[in-house]
Amino acid sequence: MARIIVYTGKGGVGKTSVAAATGLLAAERGYRTIVLSTDAAHSLADSFDRPLGPEPTLIAPNLWGQESEVFHNIEKYWGTIQSYVSSVLQWRGLDAVMAEEMSVLPGMDELASLLWIAEHHDRGRYDVIVVDAAPTGETLRLLSLPEAGKWWLEKIYPIQRRIAQLTSPLIGRVTGMPMPSESIYTAGEQLFARLEHMHELLSDPELTSIRVVLNLEKMVIKEAQRSFTYFHLYGYPADLIICNRVLPPDAGAYFGAWREAQQRYWPMVEEAFAPVPVRTAPFFDEEVLGERMLRQLGAVIFGEDDPAAFFYRGRPYTVHRADGGYLLDLELPFTSRSEVELSRFGDELVIQVGSWRRNLILPRVLLDVPTASAAFHDHTLRIEFRATAEASPASRGGPRHGRD
Ligand SMILES: Nc1ncnc2c1ncn2[C@@H]1O[C@H](COP(=O)(O)OP(=O)(O)OP(=O)(O)O)[C@@H](O)[C@H]1O
Ligand SMILES: [Mg+2]
Repeated sequence: MARIIVYTGKGGVGKTSVAAATGLLAAERGYRTIVLSTDAAHSLADSFDRPLGPEPTLIAPNLWGQESEVFHNIEKYWGTIQSYVSSVLQWRGLDAVMAEEMSVLPGMDELASLLWIAEHHDRGRYDVIVVDAAPTGETLRLLSLPEAGKWWLEKIYPIQRRIAQLTSPLIGRVTGMPMPSESIYTAGEQLFARLEHMHELLSDPELTSIRVVLNLEKMVIKEAQRSFTYFHLYGYPADLIICNRVLPPDAGAYFGAWREAQQRYWPMVEEAFAPVPVRTAPFFDEEVLGERMLRQLGAVIFGEDDPAAFFYRGRPYTVHRADGGYLLDLELPFTSRSEVELSRFGDELVIQVGSWRRNLILPRVLLDVPTASAAFHDHTLRIEFRATAEASPASRGGPRHGRD
């Protein structure tokens, strides 16, 4: 059993720095720790200021670093399938080198790097696996792939396989197209089994935490909110938000407007992610490079706390289908029964109960469905989304009220 901590967030917010700082602190607290970069554009080696390779490299006592490498991973996990895809592309007239290059399907490279997480977990060499993942959108899509892959495997694959077994010698003879052999199907099945295993690990709240790194900028916060929503949807446990590069009060006149904007955005962050806690790190007066700065960053984020702790358990809200509509259940930190006010602006839902406010980005499935009611059930606020016959497009997005 290893603790798995995945850092994600928009490009440039400080994921690599925070992941490296977490890893260093965990190692210094006595955990055998690996920091694994699964982002194809690695910068972990720069962050630690030392070379790293596609296999784990010892950086400091208890601390290993790894920058997984596309072709190394593909060879390791995808070899058989990839050579088949490559042979089909060559048959289609593609030059051999080009075919090799093209046979790395989109997403395959990062998925293959994520498979390292499962491998490290299963081998049991590390107590803590810290992952410096690709920027938000990409990781999300990939994280959801194991589910899609499973579906593909269960629904289509067996049928395809049967058809292919019946027809492939014929098609092969007539067209000359390379036909998948038994070993390619076996490799595919093994791969999907691994992806499924990885999905189980990443969605296990006893093992994994997804942590979102952000800066106090509007677009960054929005994107972080969107990924936060999708984590809930896919059941990936989020336990911490790291708000990085917060300007200190003595930032100076030049940064005055920036600091003012950051202060304006701060309440948005609290509203968007609570009850998941938010920790902050200041904008340091130098780059975060090397152990000295990483240690400082780790210290401001975690203080005396264990960086591998679970900072939040549970799911602040869930969405499920019910009788042709959808229910969004939201955990409430209080028992007040005051009036609920809902307002919708595009993909945002603002929930106001007395002075308490929550700002959620709605998942895509709910975008065109009007809110029908809101009611309290114990500590949960249940919001019903339902397309009604009389719901005109104009009524969508307008404020609606619900009462207990
Ligand atoms: N709190 C901070 N104060 C000052 N500089 C910082 C801070 N955090 C990160 N940096 C610097 O910002 C730059 C980007 O950080 P980092 O590489 O960690 O971001 P990232 O989210 O991993 O980026 P990418 O999306 O490109 O992988 C680096 O030069 C890093 O040293
Ligand atoms: Mg990075």
